[in-house]
Amino acid sequence: MSVGTDIVPMAQPVLGEAEERAVIEVLRSGQLSLGPRIPAFEEAFAARLGAAHASAVSSGTAGLHLALRAAGVGPGDEVVTSPFSFVASANSVLFEHARPVFADIDPVTLNLDPAAAAAAVTERTTALLPVHIFGYPADLPAFERLGLPLVEDACEALGAVHADGTPIGARGHPAVFGFYANKQLTTGEGGMVTTADAAVKERLDSERNQGRAPDLGWLDHDRLGFNYRLSDLHAAIGLVQLERLDAMLAGRARAAALYRDALGGLERERGLRLPCRDHDGDRRGWFVFVVQLPGDTDRDATIRALRDLGVQSKPYLPAIHLMSFYRERYGHRPGEFPVAEDVAGRSVALPFFPELGEPQVARVGEALERVLR
Ligand SMILES: Cc1ncc(COP(=O)(O)O)c(C=O)c1O
Repeated sequence: MSVGTDIVPMAQPVLGEAEERAVIEVLRSGQLSLGPRIPAFEEAFAARLGAAHASAVSSGTAGLHLALRAAGVGPGDEVVTSPFSFVASANSVLFEHARPVFADIDPVTLNLDPAAAAAAVTERTTALLPVHIFGYPADLPAFERLGLPLVEDACEALGAVHADGTPIGARGHPAVFGFYANKQLTTGEGGMVTTADAAVKERLDSERNQGRAPDLGWLDHDRLGFNYRLSDLHAAIGLVQLERLDAMLAGRARAAALYRDALGGLERERGLRLPCRDHDGDRRGWFVFVVQLPGDTDRDATIRALRDLGVQSKPYLPAIHLMSFYRERYGHRPGEFPVAEDVAGRSVALPFFPELGEPQVARVGEALERVLR
């Protein structure tokens, strides 16, 4: 393959024969759902993180919905969260007819700012929903001091570690991971909720399965539930991916280091902002490599120019409160969350995956040099 002419893609999952064999095994077993791979995947995932329990679900979004319900969020409640996230984190609050109340983000970590979150709390606030955006740990000790139930959106943060050495997802609050194809670990679609609380685990397991309690008979249901189950086919892929996780995380970290070298000149001389470095003991679980363009740059034109040079890139992420649905529903306007809006207006995700090679990173770097200088 000539790296000079091929397109550098945004993402590329690492999948191999082991995943193929695992899927075929499930197909041959005839037990495609509600089978033994679900508890096996849950136990392996919980053990990997050092979490007491884990519940597999059909997506990160489904996990967020169930975790918020378990935290007691209901109609008319408010949940304080970040406007700089994937839309699912705010949408999941709406599923319960509660209101996502946004607060601005920290300009360095791009995570929900604890002081801004504290200022947004009212007597109707029933939970906080910090997001470990781009895999960088949110300041959980600061949120914990606010004394409200917490749900962590860890969909982008597998492999991240808090300053005290605790992996993200092992702090006890429900923490929700996503396994979409671009994630650190993928099952195609899927998710996992970790928790320290056995009662929460029981509720999640029931509500993902139409409200069926484990001790109830077939088609006996004692509460409202959903179909948020993960299939055994997905869980089988997840089990293999878990074995690859260290290598895949190391691949992403290596790709990030290559980018830092390749883009260092643009950072120093042209004002390109790179993802913050690990600091104060927190460690990122690398998910995406998102840069913020210098303020005088036309982002759409930059993305088009990169594409013409064979490099894919995307605006990532748009601010949730300025999406048309949120503007119309809640009357949000530009200027409410200046840091999030500034970052959202300048951010571009570059190609990023574990097997991204040095020549590909060099090509992205050269393309950015040509476009930005
Ligand atoms: C921050 C964040 N929250 C929630 C989700 C939703 O996860 P899923 O796509 O698995 O529903 C994602 C990922 O897609 C995400 O990046």
